Amino acid sequence: MEKKELLYEGKAKKIWSTEDANLVISEFKDDLTAFNGEKKSSEAGKGALNNKISTELFKLLADNKIPTHFVEMLDDNHMLHKKADVILIEVIVRNIATGSLSRNLGIEDGKVLPFTLVEFDYKNDDLGDPKLNDQHALILGLVDYQDELDKLRRMARQVNDVLKPYFATKGLNLVDFKLEFGKDADGNIILIDEISPDNCRFWDAETGEKMDKDRFRQGLGGLKVAYEEVLNRILNK
Ligand code: C5P
Repeated sequence: MEKKELLYEGKAKKIWSTEDANLVISEFKDDLTAFNGEKKSSEAGKGALNNKISTELFKLLADNKIPTHFVEMLDDNHMLHKKADVILIEVIVRNIATGSLSRNLGIEDGKVLPFTLVEFDYKNDDLGDPKLNDQHALILGLVDYQDELDKLRRMARQVNDVLKPYFATKGLNLVDFKLEFGKDADGNIILIDEISPDNCRFWDAETGEKMDKDRFRQGLGGLKVAYEEVLNRILNK
């Protein structure tokens, strides 16, 4: 399947049309951004690592009956997937407090939460992705029905129920992550975007070392080595 027209360019990906109206190609870029685009950099090979990691995780989720947009990895930087109407809600799942949760609510960094927390952020760069409650999401028309919000939460928990124990077997704590959802041509809600160290936090279970984009956000260095290690553990290398 060949790339045709550039449909969209985001911070980490370009989306291309194909000859099939229901399928598009994501091109994973090496660009890195944080703090709503204020901090920028690039790391050669990062896009390919995220494409490979996402491919493995989408396959794992499909094996566990979670519908995703994934069709196939085409080459190092390209993934073929279903076209979907993006739901402008970032679904954040948290097992351990850190990041904005600790900052906003004063919960101790590293505290294991008594239950998995699912939050919604409004996917809106101009507004800085503010927190949303269900009424906000409905008033903004981000979904049509409360049922759909309930479904997003349910699917996000199902993803966590698969990924958290999976990463535990790889010696990684799945601290938190961000998911995006869309509606496919039949109106079904499916998981879209990517699942990678750009949008998940992984802490080494033994050492607590950060193996994700916090290495860039916090200026720790060693981002590519950490992403490679995540991929190698997934591939049992
Ligand atoms: O910054 P915060 O603590 O809210 O991030 C929670 C999780 O969501 C982290 O894993 C982070 O990588 C991810 N996230 C993201 N894109 C955003 C906001 C958060 O991938 N715009």
